[in-house]
Formats: sequence, C-alpha cells, structure tokens
Amino acid sequence: MTESQSQEDPKLQVEAARKAFEQEFERFAGFAEESATPLAFSSLSLSQAETEQRLLTDLRTRHLGKKSAFAAGKKMIGRVSPDERAAFGQMVQQNEAEITGKIARAEQALTSFIESARTERERIDVTLPGRRPRRGHLHPITMLRERVEDIFVALGYAIEDGREIETDFYNFDALNIPQNHPARASQDTFYTSDGFALRSQTSTVQIHAMQRRGAPLRMIAPGRVFRRDTPDPTHNPMFFQVEGLCVDRGISMAHLKGTVAEFLRQMFGAQTTTRFRPSYFPFTEPSAEFDFSCFKCGGKGCRICKNSGWIELGGSGMVHPNVLRAAGVDPEIYSGFAFGLGIDRMAALMYGLDDIRLLFENDVRFLEQFD
Ligand code: DAH
Repeated sequence: MTESQSQEDPKLQVEAARKAFEQEFERFAGFAEESATPLAFSSLSLSQAETEQRLLTDLRTRHLGKKSAFAAGKKMIGRVSPDERAAFGQMVQQNEAEITGKIARAEQALTSFIESARTERERIDVTLPGRRPRRGHLHPITMLRERVEDIFVALGYAIEDGREIETDFYNFDALNIPQNHPARASQDTFYTSDGFALRSQTSTVQIHAMQRRGAPLRMIAPGRVFRRDTPDPTHNPMFFQVEGLCVDRGISMAHLKGTVAEFLRQMFGAQTTTRFRPSYFPFTEPSAEFDFSCFKCGGKGCRICKNSGWIELGGSGMVHPNVLRAAGVDPEIYSGFAFGLGIDRMAALMYGLDDIRLLFENDVRFLEQFD
C-alpha cells in the first residue's frame, strides 16, 4: 500500500496514526504496567520522572490533539461510504479510548511517583533529636585553678589578680632578690627593651597586695609566669602558679603548716599527709618545700611518686622582714607566711600526663578528655 493510498483511506489513516502512537508510547509503556511498583520506576530519579511527565504531555498533544494524524483521520468520516460509517466510527472511538487510557495510566503512575518522591525529599522527621551545638568545657588548668580557689576562699582568702608584665622591683628587688643575686639567674625571664619583664613568679603579687591592702591580709594569686626555659616534657617557658600569702599579728610556721596541710587534704583527700623540708628562698626565712603523700599509692610508692611515696609540690616559708618592709608592712608588728606551687605540674600529676606541653597546645582532641 502506498503512502497516497493511506492518505486517502480514512481507515488506513487511523491505523497508521495508532501505529505511530504505539511506537512513540513504547518508552512510557513501562510506567503503565499493572503492578504496584512498576520496574520502570526502580532507577528513576525525581527529575527524570518530571522530564518523562513533560514528554508524555507532549505525546498526548501530538497524538490526540487537534492537529494530530488521528484527528485528521477522524475528520475523514465524510469520505467513508454510509454503510461502513458506523464501523469506522466505532473503530475510531475504540482507538481513541485505548490511546487515552494508555496515556492516562502512564500519567497517573508518573504523577503519583513524582508526588511521593517530592514528599520524600521534603520529609522532616520530627522525632529526630535536634542538632546540639558542641558544648565545650573549661581547660583542665582552669578547672584545677578553680578548685584551688574554692578551697582557699572557704578558708577566708581573697583572690588577687596580678599583672604579667612587671618591673624589676616587683619581680626581684622587693622580694629580697637584689641585683646580682644568684636567684635571678635561675628565674631568667623575657625582658622588654624599656625595662619591663614578664614575671617569673607569682610572688610579685605579694608586694602588690600588701601595698594596696596593707595588713592583715590573706590572699592567693593564681596566674601565668614565664621563664627562659627550653621546652621539654617537664618545662615550658610559660606555666601557671598559685601564690599564697597570709599576714597578721602572731602568724607562725604552725599556721603555714596547718593551712597547707588543710589545702592538700581538701585537694587530695582526708588521708593526705604533708611533709616540710628545710629549703631556701630569698623572700622567706625560714623556708621550706612541701611534699604530700602520693594520692595514687597513698605513700607506698608507685610510678607517679617515683617510688618515694611523696610528691613535691611547692615552696613556702615565713615572709622575710625585708619583703614586708618593701611592701610597707611593719615587720615589728606583723609576720606572715607565703607559699607557691605550680598548677600545671599538679595537673600533669593528677592526669598522668607524660608531657606538660600537651596542656598548652590547645589540641581539642587532647583537652576534651578532661571533662
Ligand atoms: N616563687 C617561688 C618559685 O617560683 C615559689 C615560692 C617559694 C613562693 C616559696 C613562695 C614561697 O611564696 O614562700 O619557685
């Protein structure tokens, strides 16, 4: 049959239109399958489905629209002989119904797939816990400093905030460490070009506190100190100390021992014992270093206390009259005791750190272990 014949024969025209439809519809046939989840959807994305939906709408216009070959075929009913007209009409109707039905089924399947894919995309699980902001915590040195502060505040001590940049007077002279005194060498620090220095010890705050408050006085001064030390596992050019000072009438070594012992009991437990060893510091006379019984082994000897049963913690003594005098306090009326200890050293011991520098590297992976 030739092309011109089919154009003339309405029946052939409709059949050709149907055939053309079937060919084009093939790609959508999978969507119209009689199954709950046709295979055609299994690997289909939402945007692909939306494209298919558009193509299907185009297909409908092309095959059922006014300008379609099918519509043209329908119009040719006039050319059909009267006795074949009813049969032709029926054939047209049936074809139209089938085409419409197929498109509608595919359309329906695509629409519901798209709807549920959109819902899925926008779904919010209201039962999911919210995203909490990561909560940090205080630095282990700060936590320890606050524990020390709490203990001393309960004993009636004020907390003094010193300065980190000092003059020679406060760092050395007033503390009875004159020029050329050998103690200056062991506490070499960092100097500015205009005569200031980073304090090498919190003992400087003793002078400031007595100058400002006079006597009697009880204070502790936690803070940073600096020394020209080469960093190694037990040294860092910056570290933390706590200074303590008590000045009043009739203060004796017994008060010093009682106070330090009480502090250490509160810090490390009621069973903690304290030991004082004679020592030398320029700003105290007499001077003593103090140790406490190891919090780990209770004095039997272990790795932490290097088998001695004792842990060295700090220095102390009766405030030297020269120091009282330098700060404007009359040593004939008042006497006092002072002590100083390293917080980072204490932290390293308590947390079992084998390198003190870890505390100052600000590595969150390290710090977050000490909540
Ligand atoms: N300032 C001393 C140091 O840094 C520690 C110290 C020792 C402080 C004895 C004192 C003290 O108040 O009485 O090594």
